[in-house]
Amino acid sequence: MATLLHLDSAVFPQGSASREVTAAFVQTWREQHPDGEVVYRDLAADPLPHLDAAAAAAGAEHPLRAELAAELAAADAVLIGAPMYNFSIPSTLKAWLDHVIVVGLNVGPDSPVAGTPITVVASRGGSYAEGTPRADAEFVQNYLEKLLTSMFAAEVDFIVPELTLAHVNPQMAELIPLAETSKAKALTDAEDKAKALAAKLAA
Ligand SMILES: Cc1cc2nc3c(=O)[nH]c(=O)nc-3n(C[C@H](O)[C@H](O)[C@H](O)COP(=O)(O)O)c2cc1C
Repeated sequence: MATLLHLDSAVFPQGSASREVTAAFVQTWREQHPDGEVVYRDLAADPLPHLDAAAAAAGAEHPLRAELAAELAAADAVLIGAPMYNFSIPSTLKAWLDHVIVVGLNVGPDSPVAGTPITVVASRGGSYAEGTPRADAEFVQNYLEKLLTSMFAAEVDFIVPELTLAHVNPQMAELIPLAETSKAKALTDAEDKAKALAAKLAA
């Protein structure tokens, strides 16, 4: 029985590209794993507290940190909705990371998370693709890739619905076709990746 840990962090419950794409991933995942389990956290609706001194000092002895770390360790695959806010990840997702990364428990090459596939849906209003003027301000993919591989030795993969603001910002109106193509590709990628993961876990 496969377990998927699914996190969303977009502040808006409706009209969210990352939520739509993670939902498509989960739907395909469930079709592939009818008896599987999906553990869900909506970090925007139910935010975790910031890491405080007590939690930082207690490490794995802290009940919430232990619970989050156990949830992550038990997951066969992880799916994270990570919209770009001010060039980076939502603070609610950062709070989850600050709690769940516990030195002495799950950090390093022998981490229980090592090799776990982590799919990140990194939605953003603009484009930060290589070669674009804002490529140097991309602190979602670059950050999460570096963090999750170096802390957990996880296998990190991204789906990037971009230019989502084209639909609401008149100055970006000419980019609407590109935004629609990006969204359609993200939905297809989500289904393909969920299927590929299912096949890999079943092998
Ligand atoms: C607080 C906030 C900050 C944002 N900062 C950025 C940004 O730095 N760069 C960007 O391209 N879009 C930015 N956006 C736009 C979002 O990335 C865009 O609306 C995206 O689609 C949000 O993800 P979602 O569709 O999954 O909710 C910001 C949106 C909000 C609400």
